[in-house]
Amino acid sequence: MKAGKPVFVCQECGAQAPKWMGQCAECRAWNSIVEERVSEPAAAEGHRYAMPGVGSSARLYADVSISSAIRLSTGIGEFDRVLGGGVVPGSLVLLGGEPGIGKSTLLLQAAAHFARTVGPVLYASGEESEHQIKSRGERLGVGAAPLYLLAETCLEKILEEIARLKPALVIVDSIQTVFSMKFQSAPGSIGQVREAATQLLFAAKGRNIPTVLVGHVTKDGALAGPKVLEHVVDTVLYFEGERHHSQRVVRAVKNRFGAVSELGVFEMTGTGLRPVPNPSQLFLSERAKDTPGSAVLCCMEGSRPILVEVQALVSTSSYGTARRMAIGIDPHRLSLLLAVLDKRAGFSLAGDDVFVNVAGGMAVDEPAADLGVVAAVASSLRNRALAPSTAVFGEVGLSGEIRGVPNAALRIREAGQMGFTRILLPAANADPAGDARTEGCEVIGIASVAEALDALLT
Ligand code: TYD
Ligand code: MG
Repeated sequence: MKAGKPVFVCQECGAQAPKWMGQCAECRAWNSIVEERVSEPAAAEGHRYAMPGVGSSARLYADVSISSAIRLSTGIGEFDRVLGGGVVPGSLVLLGGEPGIGKSTLLLQAAAHFARTVGPVLYASGEESEHQIKSRGERLGVGAAPLYLLAETCLEKILEEIARLKPALVIVDSIQTVFSMKFQSAPGSIGQVREAATQLLFAAKGRNIPTVLVGHVTKDGALAGPKVLEHVVDTVLYFEGERHHSQRVVRAVKNRFGAVSELGVFEMTGTGLRPVPNPSQLFLSERAKDTPGSAVLCCMEGSRPILVEVQALVSTSSYGTARRMAIGIDPHRLSLLLAVLDKRAGFSLAGDDVFVNVAGGMAVDEPAADLGVVAAVASSLRNRALAPSTAVFGEVGLSGEIRGVPNAALRIREAGQMGFTRILLPAANADPAGDARTEGCEVIGIASVAEALDALLT
């Protein structure tokens, strides 16, 4: 092999430049261009990106058999749920998250179960030694299982071990530490990450081995390295949660084999991650009843209804301009809702600071959360607690109307199961023949913000 020509690649967006520049011409990022060299393979090796073991002749649609119906369970129900019902053979999954959130813990737990029930698992780690992984495993109670540990960062060695062991599952922790000998750039650079992901993709598809890659995230929360990584893989999962809370959430943002925005909830304990099959209970567990400024909202995460507590605090502003702060909901949405309260319900908030928080570190980004925010803010402003057995959901429009939202029946059922007896929802969703009756809930359809506040505060 001879060393190829140098190329200059932006580490932010992947654009190539003919020479080094201080600023990328494509994405305008500063100091992001790095020289990379690719060694050119000898002609006999064939093309670097030729897929091994995959036929190149076209096949009739009807003749293609589907293997995607098979799902292999990781033994962790909440993790299977975000994957769309389990791991699909031959799929490539990317799990991103901040350092210390629990990625390695979750994957080691899943690997141990997989090894016990399905077949051998290869856990390649470039971040920790075998000793470190084992001492974590002892804490998690891994026990006897055909689980192979490989503390290696060289891509070619990992691929060799995959070929030798023929595991049922491969885990690479993390993709940013893996390097290929064909490149001279440092591990984590765009060329290395792209090459490692592509070669592991071919290994996964060619041998039908499901593969999970761990990805680092940057300061602003996006997966580090190029976006190309997200395009290459079949499924992208994000591991989220507040460092100081024990709640952890795994969210699917792309899934070729299942629903996106599916959510799995975990709790970090002394012996690893514990799945939380009933998240509503967890998110409402510390709710102070009879306190002004607290409303219970039925929101949807993927196909799953979850009850969360929306808290608001309205206090007189001591500075010239009133402050608005939102945690867990979009701050722009909060401004809009405050304007609607002001104009359509006669609540004057101009001289008040408004703080809104979704308890438990959850983030809610659907319009159905509007009514929860409005109810919490109004309750705090009037200093009146809402009835503790009441839950709400609904989108608020600019004319103060309450608009219908999807999955009303699921939300009502979840609220009923959690012991709520009165539910305020958009009039459009208040179907008198719906399942609500069976749950023994009083369902109140409302058409406007003013009507909702009348029902809540009197
Ligand atoms: P880890 O899986 O190493 O995070 P990541 O791979 O995402 O960087 O998780 C590390 C954190 O989890 C660490 O702060 C300790 C905590 N932890 C527990 O609380 N209980 C446990 O059983 C384990 C293994 C870790
Ligand atoms: Mg780790």
